[in-house]
Amino acid sequence: MPVGLSRWTMAYFATALGAFLAAQALMAAGVTYPSEAMISGHTLVGVHLITIGWLTLLMVGALLQFVPVITGTGEIGERAGLPSLIAVGCGLSGMIAGFLALDGTLPAAWLAALPLGGGLVLAGLSLVGVIIARALAAARPLALAGRFVAVSLCFLLLTIGLGLCFALAFAWPEAVPWAGRLTNDLTLHVASGLIGWFTLTAIGVSYRLLSMFMLAPEDDSGLGVKVLRLAAAGLALLWLDMFLGDMPIVGPMWKGGLFLLIVAAVLYLVDMARIYRARRRPILELNSKTAAAALVALGVCVVGFATGKVTGRLPSMIGPLAYLLLFGWLSGLALGQLYKIVPFLTWLEQYGPSLGKTAVPRVQDLVQEARAAPWFVLYFAAVAAGTVSGFLGQVELWRAAIFLHLVASLFIVRELWRVRRLRYVAPAGSAGAAAHPPAPVQPVQSAYPGKRSP
Ligand code: HEM
Repeated sequence: MPVGLSRWTMAYFATALGAFLAAQALMAAGVTYPSEAMISGHTLVGVHLITIGWLTLLMVGALLQFVPVITGTGEIGERAGLPSLIAVGCGLSGMIAGFLALDGTLPAAWLAALPLGGGLVLAGLSLVGVIIARALAAARPLALAGRFVAVSLCFLLLTIGLGLCFALAFAWPEAVPWAGRLTNDLTLHVASGLIGWFTLTAIGVSYRLLSMFMLAPEDDSGLGVKVLRLAAAGLALLWLDMFLGDMPIVGPMWKGGLFLLIVAAVLYLVDMARIYRARRRPILELNSKTAAAALVALGVCVVGFATGKVTGRLPSMIGPLAYLLLFGWLSGLALGQLYKIVPFLTWLEQYGPSLGKTAVPRVQDLVQEARAAPWFVLYFAAVAAGTVSGFLGQVELWRAAIFLHLVASLFIVRELWRVRRLRYVAPAGSAGAAAHPPAPVQPVQSAYPGKRSP
């Protein structure tokens, strides 16, 4: 394994993409929301395939690769990466069986698989989570991206902890009566997961990656610090609200928490616009264009959420908004960044050992953006169409849009597969190679500006 390359990141990415395709297929087939109720066993299967199978595994895989870069430490998770992936995979399978038992698809005896599976997920993620947290702790004071990741890991733990309480309350309500008291608020589980874990990680990593890919100056003491503080304070208020139960302060706390989260999101979007304006790379690469589309999706979510709250129409808007958050913002950003990260890691794996000894192709020679771009356009257009159909209550149109972004995702995965197989790199000495002469040998740190060679 070349220096600087995480051994298990690609395995995490492959598993995550499998779960992403499976979840979209279930939605398009009409097995889960939007065809089924938002809280039903089948929908919970789809939701956790996306949240644990796709986004969590993708983020953990990416963190195993990038935390050493953010912190300047050596490789992490070499031994724990695989056991952790297996534990999460088996745990998620158990959870799926438990969810299916919830609505009678499987016999009630299978309900025990829900907390047992959740426990395995907790064990697997704790294993890598502790390793990532230790790498971050050893590198204090942390750069901005590292601070976001440190806070988001705490919310991962809280999300899973609360999910386990739900599971215990469903499976053994008499044996664990205390679990029921913590399970009043599903919103807290959802907010901690979608905002605290996913969005904070995505924000932190985007500060680092987008500045790096667009050659924009990084500003570790600017708005980003305020974004992190406001978001963490907003989420902390939501949690306090739950623990304070029926006290009179509770309503204002909840509203205050939501307000801080909205302000944090707006500041983040303003800061991202600054990074795009300040970039020194005039022509955007595909992953920076897709990130812009994902940021627009986040902006629409924020406006939609604030409008729904003010007008009191949030309950009827929450489904399409959650869909846009998951598929437009989080999955859109993730797919686009994969299209940059996978070629880079493949390049490092294939050409890293030859660096300095012979000429090597550039990272961009591993991709053909013109082939992938239409599929990304289809992906984002389909998510936009799905969101509009959701707002209009047109479930069949919504399913058709989901089918379209499933097709787009499949073709994007095919492009990633081609990158892995070096399909676009002309063999040395061929006519194609002559047409694309190898660029001068690049030192690895040029891909990670400002950091030591990974
Ligand atoms: C990254 C981790 C997780 C995220 C982001 C997450 C996200 C979610 C979301 C969005 C929902 C709402 C689904 C809907 O409205 O249809 C939900 C519900 C639920 N989650 Fe999780 N989840 C996570 C981990 C877990 C774990 C480890 C368990 C443990 C088994 C769990 C158990 C549950 C249960 C039982 C519900 C339904 C609660 C109810 O209906 O009252 N979750 N989760």
